[in-house]
Amino acid sequence: MAPHLRLQFKVAIVTGGASGFGRGIAAKFVEEGAQVIIADLSEEAGSAAAAELKCDFVRADVTRRADWEALLRTAVDRFGGLDVVVNNAGMTYANKPTETVTEHDFDLVMNVNVKSVWLSTDVLLPYFLEKKRPGCFIQIASTAGVRPRPNLTWYNASKAAVINATKVRRAMQTSCYATNVTMTHLFLGKPDTEENRKGFLSVVPLGRGSTPADVANACCYLASEEASFITGVNLEVDGGRCV
Ligand SMILES: NC(=O)c1ccc[n+]([C@@H]2O[C@H](COP(=O)([O-])OP(=O)(O)OC[C@H]3O[C@@H](n4cnc5c(N)ncnc54)[C@H](O)[C@@H]3O)[C@@H](O)[C@H]2O)c1
Repeated sequence: MAPHLRLQFKVAIVTGGASGFGRGIAAKFVEEGAQVIIADLSEEAGSAAAAELKCDFVRADVTRRADWEALLRTAVDRFGGLDVVVNNAGMTYANKPTETVTEHDFDLVMNVNVKSVWLSTDVLLPYFLEKKRPGCFIQIASTAGVRPRPNLTWYNASKAAVINATKVRRAMQTSCYATNVTMTHLFLGKPDTEENRKGFLSVVPLGRGSTPADVANACCYLASEEASFITGVNLEVDGGRCV
């Protein structure tokens, strides 16, 4: 008998799947049998990731309604429907005093981190309701939304908004704490070196940052039937940082 795949027959969109956590999530979902569409702003990195992971890629800007509508059409046309949406694409400005944050910085974090989640539900919920499919939304938030970080005020606030809205929307989210992906130097506000990471890691009881695999494993569980009675939770994948 073929081994049981935890996401077999599921169709998933992973935003920001060209790199970092999103790529790890896409890889895990493919491994577990899902049909995956990577949705990313970067045509080059997105196509390369999709070719390597053997999944689909659609160039999309998650802050644009038309791009969400196109993603839904692609899922339906290519795979006959949609089951899981992982809202992973996210942005931050570099760590800096709040009084120096610009309107551009503010709009960036609010649009990419928050508006995208609203748009995804606004465009996709009517589809799930009409088709009577139990759609699953997973938001990649951040421990910064639970325990705010100094000098990242509006990034923290954007992730707190996502966590709060997800409780009401009855979906799930993971909060992660990472040290080995591309945004780390922005969180640190200085180069991502071993020395500079020490302070960052000193507050993690398990002594390390999360990896894309840590986050992907949590997402796989939340997207699977094993989690069918779980909703509105904030699952911290953070080595105990928020304890
Ligand atoms: N890196 C960390 O330390 C960390 C910690 C906690 C939470 N997070 C969250 O995890 C998520 C992924 O972070 P990462 O570190 O893997 O980032 P990353 O920069 O490696 O990847 C983000 C991806 O999102 C894409 N993207 C950016 N704007 C987009 C848009 N408008 N439309 C579509 N795609 C877009 C980028 O092209 C990129 O491929 C983010 O939501 C981030 O806030 C990251």
